Amino acid sequence: MTHSVKIAPSILSADFARLGEEVSAMTRAGCDWLHVDVMDGHYVPNLTMGPMVVAACRACTATPLDVHLMIAPVDPLLPAFARAGADIISFHPDASDDPARTIAAIRKLGVRAGLVLNPQTPPETLAPFLANISLVLQMTVQPGFGGQAWLPDSPQKIARVRALLTAANSDAELEVDGGITPETARASVAAGASVLVAGTSCFANGPKAYADNIARLRRGARAAA
Ligand code: DX5
Ligand code: ZN
Repeated sequence: MTHSVKIAPSILSADFARLGEEVSAMTRAGCDWLHVDVMDGHYVPNLTMGPMVVAACRACTATPLDVHLMIAPVDPLLPAFARAGADIISFHPDASDDPARTIAAIRKLGVRAGLVLNPQTPPETLAPFLANISLVLQMTVQPGFGGQAWLPDSPQKIARVRALLTAANSDAELEVDGGITPETARASVAAGASVLVAGTSCFANGPKAYADNIARLRRGARAAA
């Protein structure tokens, strides 16, 4: 799974006083996606950004915007995120009273749909929805804040999701999110991850370091081979 591992920097770790410059710098640094962590202070105890920030990022980059909704309810805000330019919208199934309806609503807006598993959520939760999602996001920290440590039992969780995707013959991406460093990138990819979200690791040491930061994560992923 190392041949096409994607790197998705989380803009939660960007300098928001210079967000446009940060998005342009990370785009130039060669990231594959940009991960946008939307938190509502209700589903998670943190409040971050909304559709306006997605639209601002959209104006600065052609890089796919991978929008991670940590909000409840989910459906009312989907049109605004689609209009703002989201390419992928993922949500936590326990934040919707009908995940199948929410997935259908995202797809009807012309956006790829993803489901997010919290560390404690059984991967089997995915089973009824696998045919209609393009992405599974396995949290490797508790959702809500950047800068947390990767949970050490993450490889088992990632491997179980990978086994489910394989058994279902799904080509959905398996994205991991939280505490990703070159070391945990290796372990995550070895367990089956295909997309790595990283905020702290990607935005460390300022724009001049972004290309190196991404390269180090790619080297970590390749070490999984
Ligand atoms: C946490 C977010 C993650 C987080 C990753 O709720 O979903 O995307 O920002 O940040 P780092 O890479 O700093 O753990
Ligand atoms: Zn995220």
